[in-house]
Amino acid sequence: MALPGSRGLWLAATSTATVKDMTKTLEGRIAVVTGASSGIGAATAQRLAEAGAQVAVVARRAERLEALEGVLPIAADISNPDDVQRVADTVRAELGRVDLVVANAGVMLGAPYESADVAEWERMLDVNLRGLLHTGRAFVEDLLATAEADGRADLVHVSSVASHIAFPNYAVYAATKAGVSHLTRNLRTEYGPRGVRVKTVEPGVVMTELGDDMTDPAALAVLDQLREMKTLEAGDIADAIVYAVSAPAHVNVAELIVVPTAQG
Ligand SMILES: NC(=O)c1ccc[n+]([C@@H]2O[C@H](COP(=O)([O-])OP(=O)(O)OC[C@H]3O[C@@H](n4cnc5c(N)ncnc54)[C@H](OP(=O)(O)O)[C@@H]3O)[C@@H](O)[C@H]2O)c1
Repeated sequence: MALPGSRGLWLAATSTATVKDMTKTLEGRIAVVTGASSGIGAATAQRLAEAGAQVAVVARRAERLEALEGVLPIAADISNPDDVQRVADTVRAELGRVDLVVANAGVMLGAPYESADVAEWERMLDVNLRGLLHTGRAFVEDLLATAEADGRADLVHVSSVASHIAFPNYAVYAATKAGVSHLTRNLRTEYGPRGVRVKTVEPGVVMTELGDDMTDPAALAVLDQLREMKTLEAGDIADAIVYAVSAPAHVNVAELIVVPTAQG
């Protein structure tokens, strides 16, 4: 049940069952979600829009973005810093100053270390790490300005439990995610004192398109085995993100690990 005032609204937002009902806790906020053409990004964009935010969605597949309702689609490759800058310019021109960034785009291309195609390593580094860095950098002035003016701004990095635990054949993917998680901890020391809540959400196994383009049989076998359990759905992570960014301004839900119960 929602209590009077913002704290009450936040409490309401903590219940998955009420996230859709209480809505509009993010009214007035301007958000960008990368990797929003499928999976966690698409679900997060929808949930943020349902909660009242204006949302720009970014990915390479324009037709997938255009199929999402009530959001601003911007086709871009986040591994290209010029594209990321174009995204930032477009969002500012169309929606205004951004106060909520969900850097979610990612690729997972598992393979044994000795036989992996190094072009796949480069792709993971380019999207998961460099792309995320350029995404945050392109919007950080907006986040700082909003934090100063309105007292609240969020930079959400979607990492993975792979940053904490080890799986065979996923070492380089896990390294990119460990980089994201530790980058986030360090950025908190720079931006927390200036009012920007930098945070990681670290999902366990979620049933999405992630890994669909993998070709290595050993890595596919690990993924197939993981997906035999009752996995999370993309909306479960979207709800966790809405929960985190709906907290009162002095609360940073800094590291949120969300795993299927069966994953342990
Ligand atoms: N699913 C899981 O079990 C799981 C677990 C832990 C963490 N995660 C993380 O969650 C995030 C979202 O993954 P997901 O599971 O939702 O997978 P997904 O359905 O495959 O979504 C990945 C998204 O990233 C976008 N993307 C990939 N390369 C891009 C590029 N160069 N430029 C712009 N966008 C790009 C894709 O869009 P386009 O192809 O249209 O560009 C897509 O929208 C990833 O960072 C992933 O590592 C997922």
